[in-house]
Amino acid sequence: MFRLEDFNFHNKTVFLRVDLNSPMKDGKIISDARFKAVLPTIRYLIESGAKVVIGTHQGKPYSEDYTTTEEHARVLSELLDQHVEYIEDIFGRYAREKIKELKSGEVAILENLRFSAEEVKNKPIEECEKTFLVKKLSKVIDYVVNDAFATAHRSQPSLVGFARIKPMIMGFLMEKEIEALMRAYYSKDSPKIYVLGGAKVEDSLKVVENVLRRERADLVLTGGLVANVFTLAKGFDLGRKNVEFMKKKGLLDYVKHAEEILDEFYPYIRTPVDFAVDYKGERVEIDLLSENRGLLHQYQIMDIGKRTAEKYREILMKARIIVANGPMGVFEREEFAIGTVEVFKAIADSPAFSVLGGGHSIASIQKYGITGITHISTGGGAMLSFFAGEELPVLRALQISYEKFKEVVK
Ligand code: 3PG
Repeated sequence: MFRLEDFNFHNKTVFLRVDLNSPMKDGKIISDARFKAVLPTIRYLIESGAKVVIGTHQGKPYSEDYTTTEEHARVLSELLDQHVEYIEDIFGRYAREKIKELKSGEVAILENLRFSAEEVKNKPIEECEKTFLVKKLSKVIDYVVNDAFATAHRSQPSLVGFARIKPMIMGFLMEKEIEALMRAYYSKDSPKIYVLGGAKVEDSLKVVENVLRRERADLVLTGGLVANVFTLAKGFDLGRKNVEFMKKKGLLDYVKHAEEILDEFYPYIRTPVDFAVDYKGERVEIDLLSENRGLLHQYQIMDIGKRTAEKYREILMKARIIVANGPMGVFEREEFAIGTVEVFKAIADSPAFSVLGGGHSIASIQKYGITGITHISTGGGAMLSFFAGEELPVLRALQISYEKFKEVVK
């Protein structure tokens, strides 16, 4: 694959696809983790004299965090200590004129790429390269740099569509992410412990199945909604309230798959021994086998319990490789962040080579000042897709571009 150092960017126009999709509140970005992660690539391009055109998505159409990138331009300007122009267009004449006006070392950001209908669909490269987004932008750019690891599992125009049209180059973040994930996945060291939490149940089940079947993991610890599904699949009762909630979220559909995985790998999948519920606004711990488990009928599970966090810590301290994705509970509420923070701290304290990701949940690492995790991945879905053993479309596109242009750019 092409690396940044292989090119001379002076006076060249570079379309830099990043993933700055971030949690937002009242129109403001509340975590700049994904911004900071791509700064080395942006700075390198500026210093190399490129004209940098940044593209990102933010949210999905109709979701609450679906906004313009005006705020992203502001945050980037601050972090880079340099003006980043917000272009209120993606590939229309206005955008192309603005791109042409850029001077060496200047940076601009296009409008939210998902404002274009083409960008919301997943299509093969051949289809993506026929889109107006790719055709029109291709006229005004020389190179494409892809540093959007967190969206590497999507086959969308801005991510894969340029591969056969322009040399597509890996950014520093992409390189770092792939290196860390490969090391964790292929390492011969053990014990290898996977910690899977959060709400991406379907993707997490695929990871559990893949890593246990291929003996890439020795043990899987579960939290969040992933744990709830496995707990039900083990035959425990999580109470009416919680079962209803899971039904509403469509999660009961996954219990059968979880059962099948347990049929094969029961001893290697750990589920919580206790949970914390929201008891009239307060955190109350419930042991799964205790008398008060009846409370689960009325009160919602918001976190794993402290006893579970303690057990998980013991296991994690002995690990050599740790792969973790997603929070253990509703960490946005302080009283229910305990499980997530304790488990993440244990990962940080463990001498293991550790990789932790989970989209927005990495914000909690920043918030609670947890340090010591070897690699914090910016990827949520992309990271899960990688550990599920799936081919990431963006990596494939980078390879295709390299094959196509390697002779030409020498
Ligand atoms: C993420 O946050 O996982 C990435 O930005 C991808 O977003 P998507 O799931 O909306 O494609």
